Amino acid sequence: MSIQQYQTTKQGGPFALVTAPVPNPGAKEVTIRPRAVALNGIDWKNIKFGATIRSWPAVLGIDAAGTVESVGEGVTAFKPGDEVLSYARGIQGSGAFQDIFTVSENVVAKKPAALSFEEAASLPACFLAAGAAITVGLKVALPGLSEGGNPGGNPPQSILVLGGSSAVGAAAIQLLRMALPSAVIVATSSKAHHAHLQSLGATACLERAAQQDSAALKAAAPGGAGFDAVLDAVGAGAEAPDVYDAFRADGPKLYSLVLTRPDAKLPDGLQATLVGSQDMLNVEPNAMAYLAKLVGEGKYKLPVKIEVVGKGFQAVEKGLERFPFGVSGTKLVVTL
Ligand SMILES: NC(=O)c1ccc[n+]([C@@H]2O[C@H](COP(=O)([O-])OP(=O)(O)OC[C@H]3O[C@@H](n4cnc5c(N)ncnc54)[C@H](OP(=O)(O)O)[C@@H]3O)[C@@H](O)[C@H]2O)c1
Repeated sequence: MSIQQYQTTKQGGPFALVTAPVPNPGAKEVTIRPRAVALNGIDWKNIKFGATIRSWPAVLGIDAAGTVESVGEGVTAFKPGDEVLSYARGIQGSGAFQDIFTVSENVVAKKPAALSFEEAASLPACFLAAGAAITVGLKVALPGLSEGGNPGGNPPQSILVLGGSSAVGAAAIQLLRMALPSAVIVATSSKAHHAHLQSLGATACLERAAQQDSAALKAAAPGGAGFDAVLDAVGAGAEAPDVYDAFRADGPKLYSLVLTRPDAKLPDGLQATLVGSQDMLNVEPNAMAYLAKLVGEGKYKLPVKIEVVGKGFQAVEKGLERFPFGVSGTKLVVTL
C-alpha cells in the first residue's frame, strides 16, 4: 500500500509527485486524508527562502480538512471516517500536501457540519497565530479558554491591529471583540476590506498608508492619545517604524508581533512579544477544539473569504505562484 506525496524537491522547487509508504500513526497521533488544503505565506516562503525547512525534499502545507484515516494508541477523541480540520506539520517538512498526513491529536478538531472541507481548511493556522498574538502577546484571556492570558492584569482597552485584512488579522479582530467587548479596536487594511472588518468587530479602519504616519495612527485612538496595544499580524513595523509610536504615552505599550520573517526584530522600549501558531498550542492544548466550538456556535466566522484555486496537487503550485503578487483579504484553497 502506498500514497502520493507532493514533494518540494529542493529550495526553489520543482515539485514532484512521489510514491511513499502509507504512514502509521504513533501513540496520540492521527492520520488524515485531506479533502482540501489551504495555502499559506509560510509555504511560499519555504519554497523561496527555505524559511523553516532544514532538509529537502519536504512536504509543505500547514492547513487541511479531511477525514481521519487511522488513529494511534491512546486516541479516543477521533475515529476513522471522522470529518476534521487540522494544523499540519508543513513547517517541519512533513505537511498536508500528500494523500495521508500524520499529526498529534491535539492539533485536530471535528469539522463543524455547516462548513465545506474548503472552508474548514482555511481556519487552523490563522486562528492559532491570532490566538497566540492575543493570549501570549497581549496577555488577554479568551472567554472559555482557561489557560491563556493574564487574568490578574489590566487588559488593553484600545488596540491597533496592523494588517486587519490578513487571515491572521481578521481572526484577531473577532477574537479580540469576543474577549474585550467594550475595547476600541482599530484595524489597518486596504479600503475594500473595511466594511468586512467592521462586521467582524473593528470599531474603525484606517487605510494601510496610515502605518507610515504615527500622528494619524494616534489620532484614531480614544481621545487621540494613542493605543494601549498593537497587534502586528503582518510584520508591518519592519517597513513602517511609525507604528512603534502609535502608543499612549502612559499606557502599557504592548506590541504583539506575529512571526512573519526569520530576521524579525522586536523594538526597544515596548512590552514586545514575538508569537507564532505553535505558541497557542503550547499555552492552550485544547485550542483547536475551542475553534471548532466557536464556529459551531456561530461565534467565529471565516476570517477572510476563500478562493478555490483548483483541484489536485498541481493546483497547489499554481496557487503558491500568486503569493509574490499579493493575496488580499482571501485564503487560497485547493480541493483534493
Ligand atoms: N509564525 C506563525 O506561526 C504564522 C502563522 C500564520 C501566519 N503567519 C504569517 O503571518 C502573516 C499573515 O498571514 P496570513 O495568512 O494572515 O496572510 P495573508 O492573509 O495572505 O495576508 C495578506 C493580507 O495582508 C495584508 N498586508 C500584507 N502586508 C501588509 C502590510 N505591510 N501592512 C498592512 N497589511 C498588509 C494585505 O492587506 P491589503 O491587501 O488589505 O492591503 C492582505 O490582505 C504572513 O506573513 C504569514 O506568513 C505566521
